[in-house]
Amino acid sequence: MEKISVGPENKFCPQTLFLYGTYKEDGTPNFGLFCWFSYCWDGELGVMACIGSEKLTKDRIRVSKVFSANLVSESMLPLADYLGNTEGYSKEKMNIPIETERGAVLNVPVLKNSPWVFELEVKHSIPLDDSEAFICKIRNTLVAKELKDNSISVEERLRMAAPVTWIGEGQYYTLNCKALGKTGDWKYLFSKK
Ligand SMILES: Cc1cc2nc3c(=O)[nH]c(=O)nc-3n(C[C@H](O)[C@H](O)[C@H](O)COP(=O)(O)O)c2cc1C
Repeated sequence: MEKISVGPENKFCPQTLFLYGTYKEDGTPNFGLFCWFSYCWDGELGVMACIGSEKLTKDRIRVSKVFSANLVSESMLPLADYLGNTEGYSKEKMNIPIETERGAVLNVPVLKNSPWVFELEVKHSIPLDDSEAFICKIRNTLVAKELKDNSISVEERLRMAAPVTWIGEGQYYTLNCKALGKTGDWKYLFSKK
């Protein structure tokens, strides 16, 4: 495969989209769309989230130290795109029909329609050049009941969750929920059993 050097770029490296929920100073919810989200190990599963420039979500996380991360599924995409392209600093942003409830463990707003929601508490925050990385404890995970139903195949449950993928090329993509094989299927590819 012939390659070219392009500098720091992550296009074609799929990222999962999440809506981060925080409560504003007046106690009403705000949501923004984020893809710089991944996992870390800190005695148990944790989350790493990076937020660039100044924005309301970052201000509110700095103050409250808690937020929710709501997986964006295909049916939520129009709302998610709006929330990712409208600044929380504009007062009208959240004057929209949106169904939220309080987290089960933390005081964070949660989207009723999201199938997988993390309730996160910031344990460390690392200031970077024009962004901030937050290392978080997962205090609770709220999951659509059917996604934990082992009588439904994993493929079918993935289809139900329908996570939206972002590859930084301007378009949102669906997952092709087709199983490719199990972990370990190729373990002995280069050796005998
Ligand atoms: C597809 C998509 C992904 C985004 N991912 C991030 C991200 O990972 N980090 C970030 O700082 N902003 C990201 N943004 C921008 C925020 O969603 C945007 O700044 C939004 O206004 C944040 O909400 P707020 O202003 O209410 O805080 C993304 C926007 C889009 C459309």
